[in-house]
Amino acid sequence: MISTCLGQSADMTEGVYTDLKTGISFTTWTSQDGFTTGLVLPPNAAGQDAVDYIGLLRCESDTANATGWCGLAHHGDMLADLLLIAWQYQGSVVTSFRWATDYFMPPAYVGQDVSLTQISSWANSTGYEVIYRCRNCLPPKTQPAAIAKSAKASKTSLPLGYAQGFDSPLNPGCPGNVTFTFHDKGYGEWEASLVNTEATLYDQWALLATKVQNDTC
Ligand code: HEM
Repeated sequence: MISTCLGQSADMTEGVYTDLKTGISFTTWTSQDGFTTGLVLPPNAAGQDAVDYIGLLRCESDTANATGWCGLAHHGDMLADLLLIAWQYQGSVVTSFRWATDYFMPPAYVGQDVSLTQISSWANSTGYEVIYRCRNCLPPKTQPAAIAKSAKASKTSLPLGYAQGFDSPLNPGCPGNVTFTFHDKGYGEWEASLVNTEATLYDQWALLATKVQNDTC
């Protein structure tokens, strides 16, 4: 059968991860090619249609010269979706929101206010991880196209997408002006179950998000 659908479904393994430093406990999803993301939602997130979350991105670096990039598509698609990318730079993790209208390198996101504050991060020769608070990042509060698509999201699951590339981004110290190449290390979409993602300690954990990224480029 010939499929006209551009999407690619990802085989993700669901797990639980508790960060030792902060005690934050995530539901996680790990791809076959080594990408891990995690999610925590406020209590009663489904009931109040929450748009904020605490997230985790943990990605592998293949060589010292090709440390790569990885990212999350907050509604499972590449196009008309809030994309978040992360990469390592000088021992820390840099992030950038992106928005694609075509299957080319997505430019920086300039839509409705979304913000990311880091809770913790590490980076070394094997990979990098960032734990962050993302405000206004989940549909339906992003852009009109995402609002229309939010009917796809049920209260118990959310379509998510991931992508990762082998090569290091160019201009890595300038999140707004960074450039990067195709997700040759892997990509796909999956339906993330939200059943265990709500946390009563959410507000307490969210207060740990204090590191604001400077983009002075
Ligand atoms: C240089 C940058 C990028 C290029 C050239 C690119 C290109 C593409 C292409 C050509 C496809 C369709 C592949 C197919 O038909 O199998 C695709 C799919 C996809 N991309 Fe990207 N992409 C880029 C960056 C990103 C980023 C930053 C993300 C997320 C953070 C992302 C997430 C996805 C996802 C989830 C899919 C599958 C779902 C869909 O087709 O909408 N991409 N990309």
